[in-house]
Formats: sequence, C-alpha cells, structure tokens
Amino acid sequence: MAKQPDDLLEHNRLWAERIAVEQSGLFAELALGQSPSVLWIGCSDSRVPETMITNQLPGDIFVHRNIANLIKPNDPSCMSVIQYAVEALKVNHIIVCGHERCGGINAAMQGGTTGVIDQWLAPIRDLWAAYREQVASLNNDQALNGMCQHSVRHQLANLADTPTVQDAWARQQDLTLHGWFYTLADGRLNRLCSPISDRLAAQNMVASGPG
Ligand code: CO
Repeated sequence: MAKQPDDLLEHNRLWAERIAVEQSGLFAELALGQSPSVLWIGCSDSRVPETMITNQLPGDIFVHRNIANLIKPNDPSCMSVIQYAVEALKVNHIIVCGHERCGGINAAMQGGTTGVIDQWLAPIRDLWAAYREQVASLNNDQALNGMCQHSVRHQLANLADTPTVQDAWARQQDLTLHGWFYTLADGRLNRLCSPISDRLAAQNMVASGPG
C-alpha cells in the first residue's frame, strides 16, 4: 500500500489525461480563476479527503484541514482561509466536518501528546475535562466518538463567533454553517445539527448543549 512519490506523479498524469477528456474545458476554466460555493474545514486525516468523499472536482471546494478540525480565533492560518472564503470568494456554505475515531481527539483524551501537537490540542483537553462525566457510562469507542461529535459543535460555535462570519451576517450575506460527521466504517457523511444561517441559530445551537 505504501505509495512512492513517483507513483503519485504517474497517477497524476493518468488522472489529468482522463479529466481532460471527461471534463472537457475544466482545466482551461480553472486556470482563469475559482468560484467555489463551499468552504470545508476538516481533519488532516488521510481517510477523509473532502473532494473525493463528496465526488467533487477541482474548483468545487475551498479547503482548510488541520489535526482534529479545530477552529481557533488565534490561528491565523484558519482565520485567513475563512476570511478569504467569505469575503473574496463569497462562499455560501461552510462545512465543519469531524470524523469517527479521530486520532487527534483520542490523543488529547488520553493525555498522550507532546510538543507542538500538545499545544495544538489543548482546547480538546479542556473540552474533554468538562465532558467526560457525561460519557462515563460509555465504552472507550463510544466515548471517543461522542467526543469527536461534541467537538464539532464547539468548533461550529467558534466559527459562528468569528468576526468574519459575524460581519457577513450583519451585512446579510448569504452564508450558512453546517456541522457534519464522517463515518470511516461505511464512508457516509451525516449532519450533526441543523444548518445555521444567523446569529440566533448559532446561539441556540450552543445553548442546546452537549450532544
Ligand atoms: Co481526525
């Protein structure tokens, strides 16, 4: 299964030849610019490649992925992606997607991280400290998946709180936030909560509490 870079280059050549036939004109169009309607914020996990699991093409999804799909107001990388997506590309949807058995979330729950990853996952440690009693009766797998879903709701609340999203809603820009969850075992995406398209809905989602 281990892929070598040369394999990737060869497969890229074959892919580009196929797409040039199947999606005639796509590359020429994309060379002129992009107009995706969706920003995807997901985990870096190799098993959750957004464009592939939604059967989309280059140009369809603007993307930010990091370990455990965290949205932090002090992360200039993620905040820049959100700002550019909303203000320049004018995406209509932002999808925050978590997934089953997230290694980052699991590591934070087990206290098994060191170095910069430990700093990165600090919000998950805090979230877990506040959440663990609620899942005390569950087995480890269930608790982990509960925590993965719980975190998506929190990241969605963080997203709704960003100046970029607040300003977009204040000027009545058409922008809806979505919390999704990917199941590794069957390849399916599901909604975790109702879509959020205004400040009140965001507050209600947060107030509705953990789940
Ligand atoms: Co993950």
